Amino acid sequence: MERVDLIINHPDFIRIITKLKKVEKNREFCIHDLEHLLNVARIMMIKNLEENLGFEKEIIYATALLHDIGKLHQYKTKEKHAPYGAILAAGILRDCRFNEAETAMMAQAIKTHSDDEATNPLGELLRTSDKLSRNCFLCPARDKCNWDDKKKNKGVTI
Ligand SMILES: [Fe+2]
Repeated sequence: MERVDLIINHPDFIRIITKLKKVEKNREFCIHDLEHLLNVARIMMIKNLEENLGFEKEIIYATALLHDIGKLHQYKTKEKHAPYGAILAAGILRDCRFNEAETAMMAQAIKTHSDDEATNPLGELLRTSDKLSRNCFLCPARDKCNWDDKKKNKGVTI
């Protein structure tokens, strides 16, 4: 996956992921490290195949790797991470040879992945997979977590 390799070697991606790891070092709730990003990518892949959605593998991995890129900004400013993350992601995606149509689709998915607002089909896949990636059933902080109880994963489904 040539263009995905460009993302994981992109200086902005490396800088943000590295800083985020330090900032979230003692966080008791969900963190947004490389493992989370790849878990989301792989769940997206499974659902893409199971449901015959037809997204290219590179599109899925690129979207998942960049979907939380705005988190560092959220910790600094308290603004929502998704809209800012979409702007950052679009710049990185263009640098990594994704064309304008691909970049627009992925940026829109990232911008709208974390709320109940309307999103595009890639954003639906991202939102569902992001949620499914969290192991709430074994999380020691689950009682303090701000996720609605209905939203928490009670067992292994994927
Ligand atoms: Fe996420």
